[in-house]
Amino acid sequence: MKNKIDHFAHKSKSWDMNSKRVQNAKGIADLIVKNIELSPSMEIMDFGAGTGLLSYFVAPYVGKITAVDNSPSMLLEFTKKCDEFACRTEVMEKDLSVDTLERKFDGIISSMTIHHVKDQKALFSKVYDMLNEKGFIAIADLDSEDGSFHSDNTGVFHHGFDRKKLENIAKEAGFKHIRFDHANTISKPHHDFTVFLMTAVK
Ligand SMILES: C[S@@+](CC[C@H](N)C(=O)[O-])C[C@H]1O[C@@H](n2cnc3c(N)ncnc32)[C@H](O)[C@@H]1O
Repeated sequence: MKNKIDHFAHKSKSWDMNSKRVQNAKGIADLIVKNIELSPSMEIMDFGAGTGLLSYFVAPYVGKITAVDNSPSMLLEFTKKCDEFACRTEVMEKDLSVDTLERKFDGIISSMTIHHVKDQKALFSKVYDMLNEKGFIAIADLDSEDGSFHSDNTGVFHHGFDRKKLENIAKEAGFKHIRFDHANTISKPHHDFTVFLMTAVK
């Protein structure tokens, strides 16, 4: 990964040791399983898969997960525990804010990643193009926050999202049946932060 900064290099090894992160991923996965009819025939992408927390909990319900992430250090942690996933996995080091991927998936899941991507319109239309007909998205991220969620906002382009604005972006990209649900509340000493799950279909 020449000339590129891995913003997660210093966090990757201890990422899974944070129980709030694990609980957040589990809560999001439970809601995905509840809201979307997953099947073992499905091949899905986990965008910004990181060390695989979300993938791990969704794996028992699908056939294959392709982990896409631009951080080699996070993907290394994903790869280390590949054998423990209940479905087939593949790892791809890609930056979806610049790279394109000539692949199609039955669904794209994501947790706590899209706030790292500046151009949401471009992202949603890229995601739309990477889906098979009737494919789904299940994207979780923070509701609008005051900028205090991250102790360091390097690489953070959005302080959470306004649901209505995100819905309009998804609509413009062509998505239908857009729905938001409360997925989780992350409590920090100074504040509580809510996490939504946005689902939609192509
Ligand atoms: C906050 S972490 C979340 C990781 C994992 N989804 C989880 O819930 O534990 C965000 C992840 O998104 C990845 N990421 C950020 N921007 C990205 C981009 N443009 N393309 C691919 N991955 C990206 C980061 O490298 C990181 O692994």
